Amino acid sequence: MAFFAHQIRRGFSSSAVRNVVIKQVTIIGGGQMGAGIAQVAASTGHSVTLVDTSDDILKKSIKTIEGSLKRVVKKKFADKPEAGEEFIQKVLKNVSTSTDVGSAVQGSDLVLEAIVENLKIKQDLFSRLDKLAPAHTIFASNTSSLPISDISSATNRLDRFGGLHFFNPVPMMKLVEVIGTSTTSQETFDSLLNFSKVLGKTPVSCKDTPGFIVNRLFVPYLYEAIRLYERGHGSKEDIDIAMKLGVGYPMGPFELSDYIGLDTIKFIMDGWREMDPDNTLFAPSELMDKRRFLQVQVIYCGNVKLSL
Ligand code: NAI
Repeated sequence: MAFFAHQIRRGFSSSAVRNVVIKQVTIIGGGQMGAGIAQVAASTGHSVTLVDTSDDILKKSIKTIEGSLKRVVKKKFADKPEAGEEFIQKVLKNVSTSTDVGSAVQGSDLVLEAIVENLKIKQDLFSRLDKLAPAHTIFASNTSSLPISDISSATNRLDRFGGLHFFNPVPMMKLVEVIGTSTTSQETFDSLLNFSKVLGKTPVSCKDTPGFIVNRLFVPYLYEAIRLYERGHGSKEDIDIAMKLGVGYPMGPFELSDYIGLDTIKFIMDGWREMDPDNTLFAPSELMDKRRFLQVQVIYCGNVKLSL
């Protein structure tokens, strides 16, 4: 935490923000992550506006939230079904939807972006939002692999911009990585930290470096498992068994890579290598670079023995 405080004090701070208490939240992107974050924010008493590109998508987002709330209620209100139903209705009342970002950000304390993982698209969105949102509004991105400073550079509110990296599925996963860039103000960072706590999550402070903490350790681990296999150190099955039984991980790295999607992992690693080509943690894998290997995903998921 100390290194971070030092880092952000070097940044410039705007008088527009002094420890904003986040009550009204606009979430852009109603997919897996956006819907999950909306559910958690609405469940903790925030007023949430969920934005996506079409009403059909937003209807699906609300359905997803409703389904997830029903599962929560089944456990939490097992012997009080009426109280459970009341809770669901109360939470859903806190969520409104919109396809118009301009009106959705009015009165918003926090705009949290969870759209497609593409720098240009995120920059275009934030550049537009910067002109539309009130001065005090904090911006945050849920990106899992892009530098926050690259996204925030499209705006004129560098001090009111940070990262809030949630984990999937959001209602279940306790961790939030709170990311400050060299220009994020202390007030903004504290507001994001407090917001994460109010959501019932456990925040950790991160530097704006590739993969923050979790993915920085996790993605190179998955890649090294593949490179280990490439070097003939063990079969995929044995590497998976070793990590499950030897370390206690619920899934081995190959099983997990298939679950996440090999394309996703490769996309993240390729992006980091471009930023830092000499970092051996980001070294390529011949198999991952071969189109043939991408097809293995399907074969492996089907539990068919591989012959690469
Ligand atoms: P998703 O594909 O499920 O949802 C993205 C949503 O954004 C879609 O509904 C899409 O219609 C909408 N969208 C795209 N462009 C838009 C725009 N310009 N305006 C409004 N809505 C727009 O994606 P997912 O998985 O929810 O990921 C979102 C972000 O969260 C990405 O940056 C991803 O890297 C990050 N993330 C994903 C995790 C995961 O496990 N899926 C975990 C942590 C972060």
